[in-house]
Amino acid sequence: MPVLEIARMGEPVLERVADEVIDAQDPVIQKLLADMEETMREVGGIGLAAPQVFQPLRIVLFEVPEARGGVAVPLTRLINPVIEPLSEEREEGPEACLSVPGMMGMVERYTRIRYTGLDESGRPIDREAEGFHARVVQHECDHLDGTLYPRRMKNLSKFGFASEMTRRLGLAPKGEESQDSR
Ligand code: NI
Repeated sequence: MPVLEIARMGEPVLERVADEVIDAQDPVIQKLLADMEETMREVGGIGLAAPQVFQPLRIVLFEVPEARGGVAVPLTRLINPVIEPLSEEREEGPEACLSVPGMMGMVERYTRIRYTGLDESGRPIDREAEGFHARVVQHECDHLDGTLYPRRMKNLSKFGFASEMTRRLGLAPKGEESQDSR
């Protein structure tokens, strides 16, 4: 299986609203899911959305390791996701993105959400998430509507190179880009 090229900020595919998946079990979709998983693991990310590999489809993958704080979430393939905030509460936290390599910024996200969609077999997924898990899902699903995290930022003074920002804010980077990937 090939490792796919990652689209970087500025690519039109990252700006558009992605299309609904008609049939999760279509072999083309199954192949894409497998290639996305391999790509995510190869680049050391914890989340990946199909538009980031030049496929404008409503598909995201994520896997939250325990080390990121809170509850570990096993690899989840989420098709046609829908997010509903469970409270108005938001929290600012650090994010990074494979499509904005080397950078990091502080982004406000809902702290508690419910998300629904389909898994790779076309079966429904219906979960509640909080904290970092909720942040990852919101970040990935934003990709499906053409939104990269810098556009969510209220204060661009909290955007910069990950190496500088982690030092300045005393943080470990959190987001789809792992600490050691550049
Ligand atoms: Ni991203």
